[in-house]
Amino acid sequence: MDSLPRTELFDFHGVSMTHSFTNNWENIQSFQARPDDILIATYPKAGTTWVSYILDLLYFGQNSPERQTSVPIYERVPFLELAIPIMDSGTDLADRLPTSPRLIKTHLPVQFVPKSFWEQNCKIIYVARNPKDTVVSYFHFERMAMNLPEPGDWSSYVQRFMQGKVVFGSWYEHVNNWWQKKDTYTKLHYMFYEDLVEDTGREIDKLCSFLGLSPSVEEKRTISGGVQFDKMKINKMTNYSTFKDMDFNISPFMRKGKVGDWKNHFTEAQRKEFDEDYEKKIKDPTLHFRVEI
Ligand code: A3P
Repeated sequence: MDSLPRTELFDFHGVSMTHSFTNNWENIQSFQARPDDILIATYPKAGTTWVSYILDLLYFGQNSPERQTSVPIYERVPFLELAIPIMDSGTDLADRLPTSPRLIKTHLPVQFVPKSFWEQNCKIIYVARNPKDTVVSYFHFERMAMNLPEPGDWSSYVQRFMQGKVVFGSWYEHVNNWWQKKDTYTKLHYMFYEDLVEDTGREIDKLCSFLGLSPSVEEKRTISGGVQFDKMKINKMTNYSTFKDMDFNISPFMRKGKVGDWKNHFTEAQRKEFDEDYEKKIKDPTLHFRVEI
């Protein structure tokens, strides 16, 4: 396929990054958030697209149904720091968004978030996913997303993930630092992928209460049904099939959507090493991840 060369990781203020996410740094840092902007923040592969779609339906599903069939989710919810030659930068897309509120996605560690989001007291939704399923999902994604570094083989990839040598750096620092942030920043809703899989309706209720939305029971039921994995997988506007630079012959974007797929990838020795490493890095007993449900 016609694609960009694979990119290389480098150290960017202590976080592994590639140029695709730092090229536009000045514009990212000076981005002017508005008070009603909603930032969807995640470490990659935590369910960003899923939550983006839920929010898009909650806000615009009723009033702009045509949006659902004509605008891909990555344009409805721009990826703030993405700057690659095949498309407009995330900051340009966000600046041009006609919606109110604007829904904006980021994978930035908390310390890199543009200061205007804090100054404007924007609502922020952070989605976290257990690290074992995250590393599996990220591995398959790097295989197919041509603007990311070449992942290499699975066993070396797990090592790199533990060392934070993947784009957006250490998963452990990312989820932990965002978790700490909610103690001082009240407009932060921290949610978990596993909870969404377990009970999508319940998590939509929590989102609505955080956002101050009160959709009808019927509307919530429709949204909850429409955002299930099988529906999103065949929906061209949510499955990334229209995005250039991803090779679906290698792996689909909507891959499995399960909790516990890590069991099909980790050897027993890898699981043990990963768990021991996890215990050293995630010490806060209030931050708890489920690796099965
Ligand atoms: P898998 O690779 O494990 O299947 P992100 O949007 O942050 O890149 O996350 C992508 C991951 O979320 C993929 O995980 C994808 O399948 C999963 N996902 C997306 N929509 C989902 C849904 N409706 N239900 C369950 N998982 C979903």
